[in-house]
Amino acid sequence: MTDSSVAALRAASGPVAPTRVWDLPTRLFHWALAVAVIGMIGTGLNGAMEWHFRIGYSVMALLLFRLLWGFVGGRWSRFGAFVYGPGSLAAYLRGRAHPDHLVGHTPLGALSVFAVLIILVLQVATGLMADDEISASGPLTRFVSGDIVSMATGWHKAQGKWIVIALASLHVLAVLFYVLVKRHRLVQPMVTGDKLFAPAANGQMAPSRDDAASRWLALVLFGLCAGVAWWVSSLRV
Ligand code: HEM
Ligand code: HEM
Repeated sequence: MTDSSVAALRAASGPVAPTRVWDLPTRLFHWALAVAVIGMIGTGLNGAMEWHFRIGYSVMALLLFRLLWGFVGGRWSRFGAFVYGPGSLAAYLRGRAHPDHLVGHTPLGALSVFAVLIILVLQVATGLMADDEISASGPLTRFVSGDIVSMATGWHKAQGKWIVIALASLHVLAVLFYVLVKRHRLVQPMVTGDKLFAPAANGQMAPSRDDAASRWLALVLFGLCAGVAWWVSSLRV
């Protein structure tokens, strides 16, 4: 986010008012995903395969949930709020972003969010079809050909593993850069849900819905996603 465009929204020294940007389900999703992905890298590298599988099904449930939440979640968690065209990205990089593009994920941030989500989906999908030819084989290996199992295992252990590690590290480094160097208040909103805007700008910022009904909806959806992940896990022989 460039400093000039942020200044329009953020009151650095003047009064500020909180706006709900990240609803509770998105925040819980984020921190659960962060812990689980670190767990997946740790268990994978250490060959702790039983836990690798257990946590892997949780990652699968979380990603399925985020996919649904991208359509029915709070305003700023919806994919529609952060699918940007090249024009928006260029405007953002030149410091002329539309004010709406500075509330949730910025055009640049959105790219990294999609990259992380897509590479994780790929890692889970290939994990489900991977086989270490000793004792650990994914629950879907018996439904696909040997060639696909080798390709999936190859990707999972080589490119996939390193891209996940690289993107997760880049994500954390980028957040640290924005927080420590650019002085943007990014992490608190992922904890409390609220961003602070100047009251004048705040009036125009429709907050994300985050009430009891939307939280119950999220719980039901997550239950369904966990059910699907559990069913996939039961296919393992
Ligand atoms: C491996 C660990 C992590 C993964 C896989 C991960 C993944 C993600 C994803 C998918 C999002 C998008 C949220 C959404 O819209 O659903 C996101 C956003 C975010 N993450 Fe992480 N995260 C990780 C660790 C961390 C850590 C350790 C921090 C804090 C230092 C952090 C801070 C943030 C912040 C501040 C955002 C919002 C960025 C914005 O305002 O656009 N993440 N992360
Ligand atoms: C976030 C998702 C995931 C990450 C980051 C991840 C990461 C890893 C890593 C680092 C390894 C070790 C590779 C090596 O030996 O060099 C590994 C191996 C493996 N993973 Fe995953 N994994 C994920 C999801 C899954 C899922 C969902 C499953 C299955 C349910 C799975 C099944 C396997 C199997 C069977 C191996 C052993 C492959 C072999 O040694 O031939 N993984 N994974």
